[in-house]
Amino acid sequence: MTAHIIDGIALSKQLRADVAKRAAALRSRGVVPGLAVVLVGENPASQVYVRNKVKACEDSGLHSVLERYPATLSEAELLARVDALNRDPAIHGILVQLPLPAHIDAHKVIEAISPAKDVDGFHVASAGALMVGQPGFWPCTPYGCMKMLESIGYDLKGKHAVVIGRSNIVGKPMALMLLQKNATVTVCHSGTQNLKALTLQADVVVAAVGKRNVLTADMVKPGAVVIDVGMNRNDEGKLCGDVDFDGVKEVAGWITPVPGGVGPMTITMLLVNTLEAAERG
Ligand code: GUN
Repeated sequence: MTAHIIDGIALSKQLRADVAKRAAALRSRGVVPGLAVVLVGENPASQVYVRNKVKACEDSGLHSVLERYPATLSEAELLARVDALNRDPAIHGILVQLPLPAHIDAHKVIEAISPAKDVDGFHVASAGALMVGQPGFWPCTPYGCMKMLESIGYDLKGKHAVVIGRSNIVGKPMALMLLQKNATVTVCHSGTQNLKALTLQADVVVAAVGKRNVLTADMVKPGAVVIDVGMNRNDEGKLCGDVDFDGVKEVAGWITPVPGGVGPMTITMLLVNTLEAAERG
C-alpha cells in the first residue's frame, strides 16, 4: 500500500486564491490588509523566512512592511516599534520574527503586540482563547495542519491523535485544536516512555520534534494519517522532515511530504490570519 499524499503546495494555492479574492473585496471598500514583519539581526534562516512571508503577501494582494534592525537594537527600542505598529491603522497584523537576539526578552515583546494584531497567535491572550474555544488567532503551523486534515475530509471525532512534540508554537496548540474537533489526544515528548506503543494506536500522528526519523514505518498503524511538521537536513544537506517518508508512506493512508507539505501551509495561514485581522477591523 502506498499512502495518498497531502499536497501542501496545491492546497496553499487554493487557500491563497481565496485570500486574494477577499483582499480585493476589502480593497474595494478602501481597506488594504497590511502585515508588518519585524526582523532583528542577521540570522540567515530568519532572513529567508521573512523574505518568503513578504513575497507571499505581495502575491496575494496584501500590503506588507518589512522592518529590519541590527542585532544591537535594544529591547526598549523594539518595544517602542511594536507600540507604534499597534497604533498604525494601515497595519492589521504584526509578526516579530523569532529568535530574537539574547539581550531581548522575546516573551515581553510578544506580549506587547496587540492581541487584535497577533497574527502569529503567540500572545498569551491568543493561547488562552484557543484553550477555551473563544475566537482568536491560531498559530499558523498547527492551523495549517488542521486545514490539511480538513482538505481530505477527515472526521476527527473519536479518533486517536498522537502529537509528538510539546512546543508552544506547534505541539501544544496542535493538541488543543485536535481536541476541539473531538479527537482523543495524546501528547508525547522527550520524556515519553515507549513512544512506539502509543503511535501504533494512533489514527493520526503529528510529528513536530525537529529531529529526523522520529517516526518510522514500524511505529505506524496501517492506514493512519501522518503529518510531518519537521524541517531538518539529511546527511546530503537535503531538506527532510521528522518522518521517515519512504518507509512510512508504505504503511500510512495519508502522508504530508517535506518539502511541499506543512511548510507552505504555515505562510498561507499567516495570510489568512492577516486577512481576518483586516476583516475584523
Ligand atoms: N521563527 C520561526 N518560525 C516562526 C514563526 O512562525 N513566527 C515567528 N514570529 N518567528 C518564527
